[in-house]
Amino acid sequence: MSMGSDMYREQILDHYKNPRNYGELEEHTFSHLGENPMCGDEIEVFVRLDDEDRIEYASFQGDGCAISQASASMLTSHIRGMSMEELQELGTDDVLDLLGIEVTPMRVKCAVLAEKVAQDGAEIYEGEREVEKTTTE
Ligand code: FES
Repeated sequence: MSMGSDMYREQILDHYKNPRNYGELEEHTFSHLGENPMCGDEIEVFVRLDDEDRIEYASFQGDGCAISQASASMLTSHIRGMSMEELQELGTDDVLDLLGIEVTPMRVKCAVLAEKVAQDGAEIYEGEREVEKTTTE
């Protein structure tokens, strides 16, 4: 094992033990709860948008393995300042880059859990907003 991956492993453990942005965001624009179908672990993501529809703050809560918790912790910081389009453009590779380690195919579902939950939540929110617009115009 290289020194580099040791450093990443330590970082993952640190995020797991001291998750950043953990807990319900009181003033959120939308939230979404989703699960990893492989294990049933659930994560809820909260997002607050600013006046320009950029992500001002994001948080999460829920339970899961170290990989899922660390990636949720890293992702909720990483997406700050992003537009909704930028959030939707994130892919598996972006999350794996944040984690910085190789994960087995089984663990990829853990790694992308928070990302998927955030993206699903954003999609539902945008959909509801569309409906609101067309029914009030
Ligand atoms: Fe459940 Fe990783 S084992 S999220």
